[in-house]
Amino acid sequence: MPQIKTTFGFHSTAEEVVNGIDLSETRIIVTGGSSGIGIETARTLALSGAEVTLAVRNVEAGNIVAANIKETTSNPKVAVAHLDLADLASVREFVGSWRGPLHILINNAGIMALPELVRTREGYEMQFATNFLGHFALTVGLHRFLATANGARVVSLSSSANMIAPVIFDDLHFNFLPYEPFVAYGQSKTANVLFAVEATRRWMDEGIFVNAVNPGAIATNLQKHTGGLKTPPERRKTIQQGAATSVLVAVSPLLAGIGGRYFEDCNEASTVSQRPSDFRGGVAPYALNPDNAARLWTIAQTLIS
Ligand SMILES: NC(=O)c1ccc[n+]([C@@H]2O[C@H](COP(=O)([O-])OP(=O)(O)OC[C@H]3O[C@@H](n4cnc5c(N)ncnc54)[C@H](OP(=O)(O)O)[C@@H]3O)[C@@H](O)[C@H]2O)c1
Repeated sequence: MPQIKTTFGFHSTAEEVVNGIDLSETRIIVTGGSSGIGIETARTLALSGAEVTLAVRNVEAGNIVAANIKETTSNPKVAVAHLDLADLASVREFVGSWRGPLHILINNAGIMALPELVRTREGYEMQFATNFLGHFALTVGLHRFLATANGARVVSLSSSANMIAPVIFDDLHFNFLPYEPFVAYGQSKTANVLFAVEATRRWMDEGIFVNAVNPGAIATNLQKHTGGLKTPPERRKTIQQGAATSVLVAVSPLLAGIGGRYFEDCNEASTVSQRPSDFRGGVAPYALNPDNAARLWTIAQTLIS
């Protein structure tokens, strides 16, 4: 299939991408909407009239962000709901309280490179559990609401870190391998791409399309365990630019009927045969492999049940 190219690029902002698109009938959830890229993603969508729910683990922080978005966009349809992706009971509670169609789900929340191995209550490695498994449970739980939207999209936030590690099927939770913070992050971000591949295969007949995005290098709280963003200044993005690819994949008519793909800098990325030394872009073939995607889905279903 030909690679998707748009008129947007590295420097495009989320506001430029959404310009002219009316979202007044669109209901959207943004996970991790109280920090970094999530705030600007939610703000930009609200600016175009969408009803936006910030799904956050810190409701107090979420309320402050929601008030600010309402004020700066003049859109009162901004809600806050509690969601802790590392706690499957919390995910179930969030899903149980959702009502009505869901047009767009942006699986944006994430953590990166926890210095020590941390496990969830179930014993799952924390980055895999938060970045992938919690979002898997959330999306599968919300599937029926996506299906009633008559055309829904899910955005799965990945990263250039997909090129650091495949999903380590034989040792997902570092029970045997020595824990490496960025290998665990890379694994989780590869899993986020594989999710887009298999979810699209399963759900496209219901009008649900799922794509993965790399937002680029943006200084946010994400780098709190790594001493800040190390990317050279000329390759960094502002937060508005960082939100652009998520917003493009979520709402652009250019991507209608497109799923199971990986985007960065507002365009579909190329696959690479080895990890580039400078992380300048691309997606590893194992992250788009349909057999890996189907295998991960089956395992994830077991892990959340
Ligand atoms: N910034 C970059 O350079 C970059 C590059 C590639 C990919 N990404 C991806 O972009 C996404 C957004 O990152 P960001 O840079 O905006 O980072 P951020 O500012 O740290 O925001 C991450 C958000 O995720 C939330 N979160 C973390 N654990 C959670 C949990 N268990 N349950 C619910 N929410 C949780 C955080 O909540 P708290 O505020 O409560 O901690 C925060 O709101 C992530 O998926 C990240 O992997 C970012």
